[in-house]
Amino acid sequence: MAIERIGILTGGGDCPGLNAVIRAAVRVAIARYGWQVFGIEDAFNGLVDLDYRSPRGNRWLELGDVRGIIEHGGTILGTSNRSDPFQFVTPGVEGTTDVSDRVMENYAKMKLDAVISIGGDGSMLIAQRFIEKGMKIVGVPKTIDNDLAGTDQTFGFDTALNVATEAIDRIRDTAESHDRVMIVEVMGRDAGFIALHAGLAGGADAILIPEIPYRVQPLAQMLMERRESGKHYSIIVVAEGARPVDGDPSVLEHRLGEMPRLMGAAHRLAHQLGELTDADMRVTVLGHIQRGGSPSAFDRVLGTRFGEAAAHLVAQEKFGQMVSLRGGSIVAVPIAEAVATPKRVDPNGELVTTAREIGIRLGDGTTPATIRPMP
Ligand code: F6P
Repeated sequence: MAIERIGILTGGGDCPGLNAVIRAAVRVAIARYGWQVFGIEDAFNGLVDLDYRSPRGNRWLELGDVRGIIEHGGTILGTSNRSDPFQFVTPGVEGTTDVSDRVMENYAKMKLDAVISIGGDGSMLIAQRFIEKGMKIVGVPKTIDNDLAGTDQTFGFDTALNVATEAIDRIRDTAESHDRVMIVEVMGRDAGFIALHAGLAGGADAILIPEIPYRVQPLAQMLMERRESGKHYSIIVVAEGARPVDGDPSVLEHRLGEMPRLMGAAHRLAHQLGELTDADMRVTVLGHIQRGGSPSAFDRVLGTRFGEAAAHLVAQEKFGQMVSLRGGSIVAVPIAEAVATPKRVDPNGELVTTAREIGIRLGDGTTPATIRPMP
C-alpha cells in the first residue's frame, strides 16, 4: 500500500517537546516522502468532528507550519485529556458516549492511510483500541511523568525535571535565610520519577513518592535532629501522588471522562508535621509550571529523533508500534506492550538506594543498615 496521506495528533496533557516531534515528523513526511499531512486538532476531537473549531482547527500542514517551533512549549495542534472517543463527554449530554465508529468514518472520509499519535499512557490505550478497529497508528511516547513503559524515557520529562530542580534551588535560598522547612509538591501523577530525580538533583533532605508510602513520625524526628545538629532548614520534595501508609493520595476532584486530579499532598504533609513539630513550614506547589516553557536541549533532540523515526515507521508500514528510547538508541516496540503495565519507580531500584545511601529520607523511616554490594 503506497502511503499518501497521514494524520498527526497530540493527546493528553501537553508537555515540552511536542512541537519538536511534530516538526520532525512533518518534515520527513512532506520533504522526504511527499505525503500530505493532516493536522488533527485537540487529540481525537478533530476526528470526532471534522469541522471541529473550523476554520482554525483541523488543517493540512505545510512545511511553513512547522518552521520556528522547536523551541516552543505546548503543541501547535492543541491537545485534550477529555477526548477519549470510546467514552466521549459531550457538553450538555449526561454521561459518556462511544463515538469511536464516527472517528473511523471520518478517518476513512479523509482518506488517511495512517495516523501518528503522540501521547502518554491514556492516549496509547486509546490508540490501541483504534488499532483493534483497523486504524493504522504509529505511537510516540510523551509525558512529563515518565510513566510510560516500553521506553527508557519519554520526552518532556527532562524539561519538567529541570524546572523542578531550579525551583528547589530557589526555594533553598529562602529556606536558608528564614530557617524554614520548605515542602515542594511536584507533578507525576501515580509515579515518583519527577520527585525522585528533582529531589536528588536539588539536594532535598526527604523525597516522598507514591511508590513508597510515608510515615510522619520519622520525618518529624528527622526535622528535629537536623535542627539539633545545627541544620536549621530542610527541604522535602513531595510527589503529588504521595500518600501516608494509612491513607490515600490527595485527590482534588473527580471529573467525568478524566483521571482524578491530584493536589494537596504537600499541604496535608505540612499539616501532619505541624502537629508533631513547631518548625516554621511553607508549601510550594509547582503545578503546571513544570509542563510549560521552552523544552530542554535533551527534549528537543529526543523529540526530533522520535518524530523522524515515527515517519519512517509509517513508511515501513510498521503499524501498532511506538517509537522508543532503549539504551540510547531509537527502536520500535508494540504499543500493546507499552500499555500493558504502567512504569513506576522501583522502590528497591538503584536511584532509590543511592538516595538512601547519601542520607536522603524516603519517608518510610528506613535507613541503610548493611554495606551496599556494588556490581
Ligand atoms: O500527566 C501529566 C500531568 O501533568 C500530571 O503530572 C498531572 O497529574 C496531570 O497531568 C494534571 O493534569 P491537568 O492538566 O488535566 O490538571
